[in-house]
Amino acid sequence: MRSIIKNGKVVTSTDSYDADILVVDGKIEQIGKSIEAKDATIIDAQGKYVLPGFVDEHTHIESVFGGEQTAPWKTESIASAMGGTTTIIDFALQTKGDTLINGVKEWQETAKGQSAVDYSFHIGVTDLREDVIHEIPSLVEYGVPTLKIFMAYANDLMADDETLFLTLEKSKEVGALVMVHAENGSVIEALQKKCLENGQVDPYFHAVSRPMELETEATNRAILLAEAAQAPIFIVHVSGEEPAQVIRDAKAKGLPVYSETCPHYLFLSTEELKRENFEGAKYVCSPPLRDEKNFEYLWNALKDETIQAIGSDHCSFFFEKQKERGKSDFTKIPNGGNGIEHRFPLLYTYGVHEDKISLNKLVDLVSTNPAKVNGLFPEKGTIAVGSDADIVIFNPDTEQTITHETSHQGTDYDMFEGFETIGKVTDVLLRGKHIVKGSKYIGKLGDGEFKERKPFGLAYNKK
Ligand code: URP
Ligand code: ZN
Ligand code: ZN
Repeated sequence: MRSIIKNGKVVTSTDSYDADILVVDGKIEQIGKSIEAKDATIIDAQGKYVLPGFVDEHTHIESVFGGEQTAPWKTESIASAMGGTTTIIDFALQTKGDTLINGVKEWQETAKGQSAVDYSFHIGVTDLREDVIHEIPSLVEYGVPTLKIFMAYANDLMADDETLFLTLEKSKEVGALVMVHAENGSVIEALQKKCLENGQVDPYFHAVSRPMELETEATNRAILLAEAAQAPIFIVHVSGEEPAQVIRDAKAKGLPVYSETCPHYLFLSTEELKRENFEGAKYVCSPPLRDEKNFEYLWNALKDETIQAIGSDHCSFFFEKQKERGKSDFTKIPNGGNGIEHRFPLLYTYGVHEDKISLNKLVDLVSTNPAKVNGLFPEKGTIAVGSDADIVIFNPDTEQTITHETSHQGTDYDMFEGFETIGKVTDVLLRGKHIVKGSKYIGKLGDGEFKERKPFGLAYNKK
């Protein structure tokens, strides 16, 4: 199977240039001027950007969180494709009492034949028994070199400091990277109790019970434990200035600390949680949305490389019946929002178009760095000869408004409803297969494959 993407502007994390791309059997075979090849399908990209397929390293698809199941692969992976994300790294979870590998296999079964895009898994460690620690090397051999520890969600997923420390120590031996959800779960539990005792049951109190100090403290603790274990660490979903400053200080000391923020922390504030008729519940996620002054701080942290990636933390629940479970008690609202489809258009519009970051930098944040940190580079995350032909064609000359009706995400609302965006993904190739054409999905579920990932990613190499 051959195709040529003609006349586009190729943009990678480091370069922008006019070129054609020849794709043969799912791989990029040649990049150059005026490429011709017999029997090749021509895809015209005149006036458009040609970008490496995006990598979303932070999703929760068809996953049970807070007693409710998130939206399934069959809708969310299509939404992913429509937004140009050709690889998802989803969070599988260990069931307490069971092994890590069984957690991964369970998630693999759910995704198998159901995904429109390539996928891989991190594993959330919830029960680190002696036998489980010794499982970490075989997990890496299986192609899963990233583990997540939750410092929040007391009485559910939360792991203690010993678990975090031992996971860090064992992981570094085999080049695995430990990711942390950094919030102090025990203090959150105490504050939640206090709110409820005072009759403070509305969604807004979700944010009140999770002040930024608790994220800052946990971020600091996680980094210190990583330093003690002499291991790299990755802080997921950084929500504001104070935890970002802790990361900045650690990096200044030369520590291998990497981190991610998410579109909702750049564009949505705590004010959303005050929406009437319980609509604030749509914006309940953890860490919570923060005061809008943090938007600028986070952009600065992206610019100075304190934060290296933007994942969606797509964890999509229905408002009806699921979020509504917490109507008289905010602690029962399942935590999570959506954004897998709109990550790039939002960041292009409010980041690149507003001159906060360059397009190359955006490609780095949503594709190249996530691929490098997570052991997928150079197959994913770039446009280069020999790389997978995961390619996004983006037309910068259109405008639209995000609405739930026109989104492909499989729930009943959109967190970014009403946001105006510039530019649109028109075409997507997944390993050479045209899966989005003229902004219409033309692929099939099952096009996506499980991807084994390599250990000793970027966090071990210091660039
Ligand atoms: O609210 C969130 N972020 N839900 C997903 C689970 C997590 O903590 O990442
Ligand atoms: Zn988390
Ligand atoms: Zn998450």
